[in-house]
Amino acid sequence: MKLYAISDLHVGFEVNRDALASIPPHRDDWLILGGDVCESEEDLLFALDVLGSRFAKLIWVPGNHELWTTHADGLRGEDKYRRFVSLCTERGVVTPEDAYPIWPGEGGEHLIAPLFLLYDYTFRPDHIPVNQAVAWAAESGIQCADESLLHPDPFPSRSAWCHARCEATATRLDEATRHHDRPTVIVNHFPLLHEVRYAV
Ligand SMILES: [Fe+2]
Repeated sequence: MKLYAISDLHVGFEVNRDALASIPPHRDDWLILGGDVCESEEDLLFALDVLGSRFAKLIWVPGNHELWTTHADGLRGEDKYRRFVSLCTERGVVTPEDAYPIWPGEGGEHLIAPLFLLYDYTFRPDHIPVNQAVAWAAESGIQCADESLLHPDPFPSRSAWCHARCEATATRLDEATRHHDRPTVIVNHFPLLHEVRYAV
C-alpha cells in the first residue's frame, strides 16, 4: 500500500489524457492530485473517473487552473472552487474541505492535510513593495494568466482570498494536530516557502 502524489496533469491536452488513460491499476494505493488537473468540469470528471477506478483513494487540492473562469458556466472564484469540491465529494474524493484522512500504509500512520491556500504576492525581491510586484514583473514582459482568469470573488483580491484561506486552515491544522503526534503530510499546489518556489 503506497501513497503517490502527482500534479499538473493538465488533461485539457489530448496527449496528457492519453497518458492518464494508460496508468495501470493501483488497487491498494492512494493518489494525491496536487492541483492543475484541468480547468473544466468535464476534464475534472474525466480524470476523477479514470483515476478513481484505479486507486483506492484520491485526494485533490486545487491549483490555479482549476480556479480559472474559462468555460460556459462562468463560475468565478469561490463559486468555481466550491463547484469542483462538490464534484469531488460526489465521487468520494477527499478535498481541503473534508476531515484530514489518516494514511494507514507504508511508513506508518501519517495525517494527510490537503490544503487550498492560494498566494498573496509576497514571494518577490525584498526591494519590491508587495503592491508593486505585478507591475515589476510586467516590466520584464511577464504577467501570469491568473491576473485575467483567476477571479477572487467574493473577496476583493487574490491576496484577501489567500489570507482568509490561511487563517481558516491554520485553525483547522492546529485542531487536527493538537491531540496526536502522527507526522503530517501537507499538500498544497502553491509554494509554502520562498526557498522552494522553483521546485513546483
Ligand atoms: Fe499551477
